[in-house]
Amino acid sequence: MALLLFVTLTLFVAIMPALDVQNNNAPLPGSRRLSRLETEGKGIFIAEGCVACHTQQVRNIDMDKIFGPRPGVAADYARITRTDVWRNTATLMGSERTGPDLTNIGNRQPSADWHLLHLFNPRSVVSVSVMPSYEWLFQVKEYPFPEDIVLNVPDEFKKGITGKIIASKQALALVAYLRSLKQIPLPDGRQVPVFLYGKDKTPVAGPGATKPQFDGAALYAANCQACHQENGKGLPGAFPPLVGSELVLNPDPEVQITVIMKGYNGLVSKGYGIMPAVGTNNNLKPEEVAAIVNHERSSWGNNSRHVTAAEAKKIMDSLK
Ligand code: HEC
Ligand code: HEC
Repeated sequence: MALLLFVTLTLFVAIMPALDVQNNNAPLPGSRRLSRLETEGKGIFIAEGCVACHTQQVRNIDMDKIFGPRPGVAADYARITRTDVWRNTATLMGSERTGPDLTNIGNRQPSADWHLLHLFNPRSVVSVSVMPSYEWLFQVKEYPFPEDIVLNVPDEFKKGITGKIIASKQALALVAYLRSLKQIPLPDGRQVPVFLYGKDKTPVAGPGATKPQFDGAALYAANCQACHQENGKGLPGAFPPLVGSELVLNPDPEVQITVIMKGYNGLVSKGYGIMPAVGTNNNLKPEEVAAIVNHERSSWGNNSRHVTAAEAKKIMDSLK
């Protein structure tokens, strides 16, 4: 009797609800399992304690909007299964957010070059960063092999290292894991949860009232600054300067806007990395692209013709 009671209760209280939760939260179509390399990277993420400062959960409140296009849902975590019979796998949702949320970092920052430099020394790309350096994920070699990934670290961050700085297998796996972290859009028809407690942004009076609706400096900070830096000087050997760039100063904005929407690899032979399709990835609107373009054209001593949103829209439509 006792055994029968126990089994029946377990069925109703634990097993059936669990199956129900599993059925209602199947992995989203379009999501995929982590590859072997990415799984290895996740192990390094755990081993290095990155979760102490980084969450992987976009909460449904307005201040989390910058971390992903929608709040997280249970199905986002449905692919996280046991490692093996003996070990469960951490979801790594985290609870401390000293650094930004990483749920969607694969879309927000797809550049492997950036991630490697950032891991070697976060200050080399974000001058005010308090994130620790993970220098032990890199090796120094006098003569790298052709297949080695060599980092172009600016001299001031080399701490006297004279050889070439190479990304180790662990660093590459970790970056593969970071780049795999992407929020998948919910399938059509599924209700998208909304962000709550949005602040009413309509300026009533005062200095805010006269501020342009599309603030080029703020948009540049959100989309471009991680690589090209606040002063527009970029980073030698990794991200080119926008100060004095012929491409930026050209009165015809076509190439400049194409670079924003489609990315760029025309300078690889000069030792720079590849620029991802930042504008397309971040769904920039023509008004926003025009504001960024004009910020580039009128800052840091640059001085070139301003571009209208209509012009930007025409070029962006032609790229589709
Ligand atoms: C002591 C806290 C701390 C730890 C530990 C830490 N980070 Fe960070 N991280 C930060 C802070 C603060 C920032 C924001 C400044 C910056 O971009 O460097 C950041 C930024 C980032 C970013 C860029 C996020 C964005 O939105 O641009 C990535 C990616 C990242 N960290 C990955 C990692 C990884 C991988 C580890 C473990 C190897 C790690 N972090 C460990 C504090 C931390
Ligand atoms: C992940 C890093 C990254 C981000 C973010 C980024 N860029 Fe770039 N950008 C690059 C790299 C790398 C190159 C050089 C590409 C090459 O080798 O051809 C580049 C090249 C350029 C060039 C060409 C410069 C020249 O003189 O030829 C322009 C203009 C430019 N970026 C503008 C932007 C703007 C505007 C944004 C924001 C909307 C942006 N970039 C965001 C990395 C980035």
